[in-house]
Amino acid sequence: MTTTEHDTNQSQTHLAQIGVVGMAVMGSNLARNFARNGHTVAIYNRSPEKTRAVMAEHGDEDSFIPSETIEDFVASLERPRRAVIMVQAGKATDAVINQLVEAMDEGDIIIDGGNSLFTDTIRREKEVAEKGRHFVGAGISGGEEGALLGPSIMPGGPVESWEALGPLLEDIAAKVDGVPCVTHIGPNGAGHFVKMVHNGIEYADMQVIGEAYHLLRYAAGLEPAEIAEIFSEWNEGDLDSYLIEITAEVLKQVDEQTGKPFVDVVVDAAGQKGTGRWTVKEALDLGVPVTGIGEAVFARALSSSTAQRTAALEANLPSGVEASFADLGLDKAQFVEDVRRALYASKLVAYAQGFDEIAAGSEEYDWGLKPGELAKIWRGGCIIRAKFLDRITEAYEKNPELPSLLLDPYFRNELEGGVIDAWRRVVITATQLGLPVPVFASSLSYYDSLRADRLPAALIQGQRDFFGAHTYKRVDMDGTFHIAWSGDRKELRY
Ligand code: ATR
Repeated sequence: MTTTEHDTNQSQTHLAQIGVVGMAVMGSNLARNFARNGHTVAIYNRSPEKTRAVMAEHGDEDSFIPSETIEDFVASLERPRRAVIMVQAGKATDAVINQLVEAMDEGDIIIDGGNSLFTDTIRREKEVAEKGRHFVGAGISGGEEGALLGPSIMPGGPVESWEALGPLLEDIAAKVDGVPCVTHIGPNGAGHFVKMVHNGIEYADMQVIGEAYHLLRYAAGLEPAEIAEIFSEWNEGDLDSYLIEITAEVLKQVDEQTGKPFVDVVVDAAGQKGTGRWTVKEALDLGVPVTGIGEAVFARALSSSTAQRTAALEANLPSGVEASFADLGLDKAQFVEDVRRALYASKLVAYAQGFDEIAAGSEEYDWGLKPGELAKIWRGGCIIRAKFLDRITEAYEKNPELPSLLLDPYFRNELEGGVIDAWRRVVITATQLGLPVPVFASSLSYYDSLRADRLPAALIQGQRDFFGAHTYKRVDMDGTFHIAWSGDRKELRY
């Protein structure tokens, strides 16, 4: 290793294996996770008060080396230096990267553990590599608790960085059946891309659970506490997942101030930080129909369109609803089971679409992503952790070229035996009762489109040829054709 101007503090004997920049909640929890797993951790925050607070509260937990300047922080790291940035995405991340590049040496590794847009990660990797440092964009899922106790980690960047970084990340990641929920995802922005799609799938998963709840509540007339019981039961079967588990907890919660169900005192306007929207924007560019994720993002947007919703409510827009749940003569127990099946099928479609986007992204950016490995590292630590993911891993192990998860024999079998007709009944009932089910309904349409022999796209091609001479192909012969619509309407072959 060459001696450089950055070696000033290297004479100190006690060096850290890893450093964390940014001592807000995620950063400090991640630093504590490294420390708990036996590593000495260098810590730094722009405003020193946060670093001091971490030392005051957790300094005795394990081994931290606090610094109040970025230079001291860098000097307290073992080589190759490994520093994880946990600051706000965007400008703050760029600022810290620049400081680290300046203070570090050739071969050192800068890791961005924030929720950065993968195209920013591609740009940053290139810029940092030009300066001789390594850059790893790592998606980290699991929220505050995951950061502290074991997240799912999706690191991109060069393979050499993974070799230096992998063992440390394996130590702090969640474990399922002894397998750490981390793997090298692929070059440059691959890690943040996969994290982005993970979040998009999370939006759809949350929305389908929301739609199931809404139907049980406002179609079948069940109370939140009863629905909590139903979700707890569902959590014992195919739907076993973190999101179903916490849904039961949220529905059980009673508001202290009013004694009402907690869910009834919460304003029904869903927030979003942007990763779902990014997933959909990128899917549009890649031409991948992620309808479930798209509807979930739009459902949040609509829920937050307060002025419009208030105006529509005041205008008392006609519903066209003519019957109640009782009038429809539905059996409640059967309906609950139908909703469970509709939820399962819609969720499967959302995951299938998310994996389609991953495959398309992998091809577009030449990442060589392995979908089965991704499902494996999502089994623990992250928000979409679910039993279901084992099946996805198995599906891709059996056939890495699977054209769609829906075509895997296991999932196909799951859809047999009454699931599809239950799904149709649920969408029909919701429509009859005027209850919105954007993801249930659009996923069913997607499913029917995918399996269709003929689609109305033939007519659209005709329209396009009519107004724009965009040409069309024929089902029965090769070539490109156009009708002389404004003339004799004869077919021309190109
Ligand atoms: P979390 O979500 O974990 O609470 P965040 O809001 O994403 O955190 O990021 C906050 C962190 O970004 C803080 O550590 C903040 O540093 P300060 O405590 O000094 O405010 C850090 N941060 C924000 N802008 C920064 C910048 N330009 N340079 C360095 N750090 C910055």
